[in-house]
Amino acid sequence: MMTSNTLTVTDNRTNRTYTVPITDGTVRAMDFRQMRTGEEDFGLILYDPAFTNTASCRSSITYLDGERGILEYRGYPIEDLAERCTFLEVAYLLLFGELPNKAELDAWVFEITHHTMLHETTRKFMEGFRYDAHPMSMLMSSVAALSTVYPDAKEVHNPASRMLQTKRLIGKMPTIAAMSYRHNVGFPYVYPDNDLNYTENFMNMLWRMVEPKYAANPVLARALDILFILHADHEQNCSTNTMRSVGSSLADPYLAVASAAAALSGPLHGGANEEVLKMLDEIGTKENVPAYIQRVKDGHIKLMGFGHRVYKNYDPRAKIIKRTADQVFQVTGRNPKLDIALELERIALQDPYFVSRKLYPNVDFYSGIIYQAVGFKPDMFTVLFAIPRTVGWLAQWQEMLIDSEQKIARPRQIYTGQRNRKFVPVAERGAVAV
Ligand code: SDX
Repeated sequence: MMTSNTLTVTDNRTNRTYTVPITDGTVRAMDFRQMRTGEEDFGLILYDPAFTNTASCRSSITYLDGERGILEYRGYPIEDLAERCTFLEVAYLLLFGELPNKAELDAWVFEITHHTMLHETTRKFMEGFRYDAHPMSMLMSSVAALSTVYPDAKEVHNPASRMLQTKRLIGKMPTIAAMSYRHNVGFPYVYPDNDLNYTENFMNMLWRMVEPKYAANPVLARALDILFILHADHEQNCSTNTMRSVGSSLADPYLAVASAAAALSGPLHGGANEEVLKMLDEIGTKENVPAYIQRVKDGHIKLMGFGHRVYKNYDPRAKIIKRTADQVFQVTGRNPKLDIALELERIALQDPYFVSRKLYPNVDFYSGIIYQAVGFKPDMFTVLFAIPRTVGWLAQWQEMLIDSEQKIARPRQIYTGQRNRKFVPVAERGAVAV
């Protein structure tokens, strides 16, 4: 029996048989366009709402194995990177494909550190938000506003311009995030302190009050660094797909990142970490967990922080976050919400409803509990997701722009509406039931 990397299909409408190549476990959608019933027929289109089984690109940035719960950045297991790297070191890896040597890392950190300031017009722009504006909305709008400050960013085919905007965005995201928080609580903005590392400076801009120099707790600063590493990239998730799609029209990276952040803000995606805390607050005590689980099983609500399109096993990031929580709680004291979360997990992981659907804790299930213990309000949680994911969005954006197979994203559709309707002038249209 001859075997080959091909797929042979018979179109029973015409009894014609076609053979198409299989490459990397995929077939090309365009190879099905030839399957037609006649000259008038456009040819077969592949229908895949929400892209549940569609590869949109070739990428060498992040590898996921959903069945085995494996996550690697540029081939390095996430466990090694979280334990042995800093976030900026991992940012370098995601963007350049290799871990930096000491000189490269020092130069990279110096570059990012010297892009943390915001143009004063952007600071003034942020002062226009209502006092109670959601920090995530302020972040998205302010990132888009950076597009007005750096018109050179439109040169998306210029590698030097792409790298300059990349450094600016990585450097400025914590500044914008901290200013969104300070605006939200009515405190004066704190300017960056270049003596501090990436997460210490972020904490400085968030929480320094009148002391001349902010002293970040090193355990909490390192915990944030680990959380940033875990959130940096995750192959073709909803917000990264948005970054690639908006970037494919050659929009500048500030507008593309703002669009990706908008996608991330949804409660089914990066907004889930804030929803998990609301869920734990609603449950209130461990004793209420069984009744809540029943409401989930009855289909009334989803168990936020559970489930994943790709992971059908425990999200490896959730395991690391759980371990990091222990270190944080030694400094901050144990967050009582952890007990409710652990009980939710314990019951869910043995309940057939969740087991049959392969629903496990994802990255958002425990992250909010840590963030709250460190001192963040729930409406800052998705902002904390957007800061590190900006690196992944930019790495994927660059990869898309230099991929010769890629061009402006424009899916097809199945049209279900009416056709060729007779136009009736407004004076002759009868009363329409409203
Ligand atoms: C992130 O893509 C990424 O990589 C994202 C992310 C990243 O790093 O970028 O990992 C970050 O977004 C993590 C996910 C955070 N979201 C949540 O925690 C929200 C709750 N989770 C669900 O909304 C859901 O699990 C999704 C959105 C994450 C995945 O949805 P899918 O893949 O479309 O799965 P589905 O909705 O088709 O669910 C399959 C079944 C359904 O039941 P049936 O219709 O078969 O009876 O599982 C059920 C769903 O109702 N289900 C859940 C559930 N998630 C899925 N039931 C209860 N609670 C849940 N959380």
